[in-house]
Amino acid sequence: MKPAEALKNAYILVTGGAGYIGSHTLVELSSAGYDFVVYDNLCNSSQEALKRVSKIINKDVKFEQGDIRDKKALQNVFEKYNIDSVVHFAGLKAVGESVIKPLEYYDNNVNGTLVLLSVMKEHNCKKIVFSSSATVYNEVTTKNYIPLKEDSPTGATTNPYGRTKQFIEEILQDFYISELDFKVVTLRYFNPVGAHESGTIGEDPNGVPNNLMPFIAQTAVGKREYLSVFGGDYDTYDGTGVRDYIHVVDLANAHVKALKYISSANFNIKNATLNIGTGQGNSVLSMIKAFEKVSNKKVLYKIVKRREGDIAKCFADASLAKEVLGWQATKNIETMCKDSWKWQSNNPKGYET
Ligand code: NAD
Ligand code: UD1
Repeated sequence: MKPAEALKNAYILVTGGAGYIGSHTLVELSSAGYDFVVYDNLCNSSQEALKRVSKIINKDVKFEQGDIRDKKALQNVFEKYNIDSVVHFAGLKAVGESVIKPLEYYDNNVNGTLVLLSVMKEHNCKKIVFSSSATVYNEVTTKNYIPLKEDSPTGATTNPYGRTKQFIEEILQDFYISELDFKVVTLRYFNPVGAHESGTIGEDPNGVPNNLMPFIAQTAVGKREYLSVFGGDYDTYDGTGVRDYIHVVDLANAHVKALKYISSANFNIKNATLNIGTGQGNSVLSMIKAFEKVSNKKVLYKIVKRREGDIAKCFADASLAKEVLGWQATKNIETMCKDSWKWQSNNPKGYET
């Protein structure tokens, strides 16, 4: 049965669907035949992203503006639409900010998820795909268990943002133990980068980017003078930090596969927490080199001291996602850089016009 037939008159609720990963996922959901409704308070995104998604998919995007902590507003959405499953992206995600505003992070991410789960329960909606992060593997784990497997130790994360992901994973486990027919797929993302190949949607960080790829792209486009490479003396192949960068469209597709899995007879709670990465580690210098190659621009950089809290290497063993979902990453770092560059050079101010 094709998803479109299976879900006739039923919708996927995409919380946080106007954001970076959410907007790319909408495109893939649409091409897989799913109907969806976006629920987002636009605290870190713009409706322009949804307009552009609508152009790519050649279809209107159903959008309800609201906060996941607003129970009444969520109830209204569940009453208006027949929601079959939820893909839950909504959340705050800046590690540094979470240290400064922990209560806001716990309220938004943890409390918001509790409200969402209670409204799902009220409306008999029993399937959720949750955005977790490799950040749940703590520093000690990443030192000792590379590549990271799903059963590598988690917890003891270094910051409130990471803890919200850890707590939500545990809340979801308690919830499915209490609600026997409730189904959860937790996806632990590694480092999402890149953009849709059209160059019309992409990552649009507020202010100075914390993450490597947007910083490289903004340096190449002339918005930043140079990139500070945090540490050149790590125990890695060239001394700079190694990460598992994954193209956002590959990541988006993992959600489509997760939705198929959650509705299938093969669904098994034991295999429902999955690493979503490529399984390849690339260094900061390799990313700079790949970006320079595809953009034909020089990315000026200086090697500076290590960033506090950083680790040498972090990459996934992504074999379980392949086995369980039949998903694997298909796009290499050149494609990641090419698509980031297309987005950045076509939209130097992001979604701001
Ligand atoms: P994003 O900030 O671009 O998207 C999140 C969206 O959620 C935004 O559109 C924001 O407006 C919305 N939102 C936030 N709080 C809300 C609330 N209370 N009610 C309604 N909407 C709300 O972030 P992203 O990069 O697309 O990340 C999506 C999810 O994936 C997040 O949960 C994030 O923690 C997780 N994640 C992201 C990364 C990454 O590097 N981007 C890595 C691992 C996990
Ligand atoms: C960060 C977050 C993590 C999140 C992940 C993916 C922390 C502690 N963790 O991890 O929660 O899931 O992003 O978005 O922040 N680098 C530079 N110069 C820069 C920026 C980064 O050299 O200006 C280096 C870093 O030292 C690291 C690599 O680039 O080696 C990747 O950094 P970044 O994009 O911030 O991701 P993570 O640190 O892996």
